[in-house]
Amino acid sequence: MSFSSLLKWSIPLLLANEVMGTRLVPIRPHGGRHNKRQEPSGFDLKSDETFLWGSVDASDSALASLTVHTPGENENILSMEHFDDMITNVHCGNNSIEMTFEDDATFAYAQRVWDWVNGADNHSFVMVAGPGDCGTNEDRIPYIVSTLYYDEDANKATLGAIESNWTAIAHTYDLVIGSNDTQNRTSEASVLPRDIDKDTSIDFNHHLNGSLAIARGDLSATVTCLNCSTTGSFDMKFKISQKLGIPTDATITLKPKGVSAYAKMKLAGTGKVVQSLTKTFDLLSIPLAGLDIPGVFELGPFLTVALGAELTGIALTATVTSGATGSLYDSAVVEMNMLDPSENTFSGWDPKVEILETSVDGSISGGVQAFLQASLELKANALGKGFRIGLDLKVPSVNAKLTGITSTKEVCEGSNQNIGVKATTGIGGQLGIKAFRESDESKPFVTITLAALEKPLTEPLCFPFGPKSGAVSARSVRHPHIRRIAAV
Ligand SMILES: *[C@@H]1O[C@H](CO)[C@@H](O)[C@H](O)[C@H]1NC(C)=O
Ligand SMILES: *[C@@H]1O[C@H](CO)[C@@H](O)[C@H](O)[C@H]1NC(C)=O
Ligand SMILES: *[C@@H]1O[C@H](CO)[C@@H](O)[C@H](O)[C@H]1NC(C)=O
Ligand SMILES: *[C@@H]1O[C@H](CO)[C@@H](O)[C@H](O)[C@H]1NC(C)=O
Ligand SMILES: *[C@@H]1O[C@H](CO)[C@@H](O)[C@H](O)[C@H]1NC(C)=O
Ligand SMILES: *[C@@H]1O[C@H](CO)[C@@H](O)[C@H](O)[C@H]1NC(C)=O
Ligand SMILES: *[C@@H]1O[C@H](CO)[C@@H](O)[C@H](O)[C@H]1NC(C)=O
Repeated sequence: MSFSSLLKWSIPLLLANEVMGTRLVPIRPHGGRHNKRQEPSGFDLKSDETFLWGSVDASDSALASLTVHTPGENENILSMEHFDDMITNVHCGNNSIEMTFEDDATFAYAQRVWDWVNGADNHSFVMVAGPGDCGTNEDRIPYIVSTLYYDEDANKATLGAIESNWTAIAHTYDLVIGSNDTQNRTSEASVLPRDIDKDTSIDFNHHLNGSLAIARGDLSATVTCLNCSTTGSFDMKFKISQKLGIPTDATITLKPKGVSAYAKMKLAGTGKVVQSLTKTFDLLSIPLAGLDIPGVFELGPFLTVALGAELTGIALTATVTSGATGSLYDSAVVEMNMLDPSENTFSGWDPKVEILETSVDGSISGGVQAFLQASLELKANALGKGFRIGLDLKVPSVNAKLTGITSTKEVCEGSNQNIGVKATTGIGGQLGIKAFRESDESKPFVTITLAALEKPLTEPLCFPFGPKSGAVSARSVRHPHIRRIAAV
């Protein structure tokens, strides 16, 4: 079975395994259940409430924070997680929630503060049931409470409540996913919750195998990844805010952490072609573990890594091995403002690219470029609003202009051979980011070039081959690239 058909078959399996991502779990406001004695003030209706979520394996550190504001005179919000240790029995029905209080004092307190809802027909409050508050629910469930009845003898309250959802209840909110501000923006910093202590990151560690076949006319060539890999991760942060239904912030920040790509590649083939040919082949195309807070936030990252080559006016009967490593500095950062692209900022994305040893075995003339291209797509949905970002990293890329030389004299200095290939090489990288609106997924509304590096390397290389003329040279041809060009 060829590699490409193997890859096609393996994708559906990977989708099934990985597309679920990481489901975040609610973090209780005061640590674990029964950790701390709850106070009657936990029954107070509030005009804003913050909810935290974290990953299952580190459930005490927060990855996501949602603050819902209810600034109107007729609305309030309340989280059951502030008082659920003080009630002994809860039944959540389709149109009501019944709860029994642990003692007369707490019942009296709740009655006093909640009676506000009966004060006017249009008074209502959002009550959010925490995990387990309504039986076996694992996620928080928002309800809208608009009336209240009491059974004094039984210390029982019956709330006229209908189950709702986050999109419907949160007309005004601040949602933050992932921590670590790259810069202090004082006006917003005071509004946004500061409770997140953990980073959300996307894994970028992959070993890559595969090859790319190029055929045109009588040209038949393959570019193979001899040793290709990517390492590191990307830290990301989302900040999304809305006020009375109008989006006021939608910012995505991406930072590399130890990101590098290594590509040792081989071009082998025969034939020639006059025009320029560009071809890419996906070595990897997989959904990465995303993030999911049911009803609140969903992120589905998708990674594609392609091997690419561009051949220009080439004639060859040869094998060329070369490659490069590319890495990003951890200080690089890009902040995309989905509402106002003029606010986009980025810095530090110039990659550090270094060439690996090049060797040429055979006759070749023309231009060759080979590269790895990683495309990371982030598709997110926050409280019913969707957006998509695509990060494209064409790095490293290595290029060479090759000229076959036949001479009556020695071609490469010290080789004692009359045939050889002269090469001038260069390295590069192109990094860009695009943002798409949910309403038009086909065309980005903003495209930024984060970095564009094209660096010719000054030392020309010379690769001799063919029979030795006259006396056999004793010198080694181990490192042919250091030979100077003797004849042109
Ligand atoms: C609640 O509504 C669902 C359908 O929406 C129904 O199947 C269920 O029986 C109802 N439960 C009660 C207690 O009325
Ligand atoms: C709520 O009802 C009061 C009268 O009871 C009225 O004055 C007020 O405008 C209403 N508010 C809304 C938002 O409907
Ligand atoms: C959320 O609730 C609103 C109002 O009840 C409803 O129109 C909407 O379809 C719900 N959305 C989801 C995702 O359930
Ligand atoms: C995030 O911030 C904390 C505290 O400022 C720091 O200890 C941690 O190293 C930071 N993480 C990253 C990935 O920058
Ligand atoms: C960011 O703000 C915090 C306090 O909110 C302050 O301690 C810190 O020095 C500020 N950092 C920068 C880089 O301004
Ligand atoms: C890629 O190559 C490495 C080293 O030869 C091998 O261990 C690995 O199984 C290969 N992976 C795939 C997907 O073929
Ligand atoms: C592949 O390259 C890495 C360096 O990135 C090196 O550590 C490893 O030994 C190489 N593997 C092979 C099979 O050459």
